[in-house]
Amino acid sequence: MRIENPKIVAALPRLDVELRPRASLAGLTSLGIGGTTDLLRIKKHESIPGLLTLLDVNAVPHKFLGGGSNLLVEDDELPWVALQLARPVPEVVLEGNFAQVDAAADLGRAVTYCAKHDLGGMEGLIGVPGTVGGALRMNAGAYGMQIGSYVREVKLYRAANRKIEILRDNQISFEYRHTSFAPDDMMLAVKLELPSKPYREILQGIRICNEKRRSSQPLGQKSAGCIFKNPPGASAGRMIDELGLKGHSVGDARVSDRHANFFVNAGHATAKDMLGLISDVRERVHSAFGVDLENEVVVWNA
Ligand code: EPU
Repeated sequence: MRIENPKIVAALPRLDVELRPRASLAGLTSLGIGGTTDLLRIKKHESIPGLLTLLDVNAVPHKFLGGGSNLLVEDDELPWVALQLARPVPEVVLEGNFAQVDAAADLGRAVTYCAKHDLGGMEGLIGVPGTVGGALRMNAGAYGMQIGSYVREVKLYRAANRKIEILRDNQISFEYRHTSFAPDDMMLAVKLELPSKPYREILQGIRICNEKRRSSQPLGQKSAGCIFKNPPGASAGRMIDELGLKGHSVGDARVSDRHANFFVNAGHATAKDMLGLISDVRERVHSAFGVDLENEVVVWNA
């Protein structure tokens, strides 16, 4: 979607918002799939209520883009504009055991920064791609840890009342790959409380998790991490593997040979290919095991 309304175009610099016309979402997602649209890069949190009012008043549909690492975007010209926070400097501010982290910060870099200052707890998350905001929204986790355990406060834009608010941890529920945030809440920053730990020890934990990840996941390939959530007490990857579906493909969308819950873009996969593969695998798992797999990947389609 193009932003052509001169009123909006003229207001953007005043709001400290940069317009990147015809951005390719394929280039902004780890799957390398997605059509084009105008991208608005927001440089100041305080501009968000004004920007969103401007878009709503002028009936411009929009979606909030984080790091694009758990996202499958439809093909061709997209019927909405994408909003993304620009990375601030610094991304992380430490005070004792608290880390104030901007939502646009890269998760791995934020975890490393804290580790270098002897703050641990999130060793398993270092290899999880994406932004801190994205990790927060879905309560990203790996190797027995999840970001929600360390959250003390979240600064967010609440579309429902058009305000920037701060929520305390007791106002948010964090579950397995799920949080109580509304779909149109926009994560802005988070205050984490992290346990003190010597950097050397944290580094050891990071190495162990990274080694496990390298040996079981297709890290060099374009993917969105695990496509499905694990059903209670079971592993989606194992079920798909047991059905002999590693390597199964629709167009260039392919079940990874290394981990069957990772679907990779093996060339020029389209969203149509990937959605076709997802529904094919879901049906096969349902008919073999009677289990309805739920998407972990977020799908943006019409
Ligand atoms: N397995 C197979 N074949 C496969 C994949 C897995 O038999 O192709 C078996 C493994 O051998 C193991 C079991 O299934 O016995 C579980 O596999 P794994 O340890 O790889 O964990 P997972 O449940 O598939 C989860 C998370 C990952 C996270 C790892 C490590 C979900 C959906 N996935 O994977 O998170 O990195 O544990 O903690 O919860 C993600 O969320 O995108 C993600 C990659």
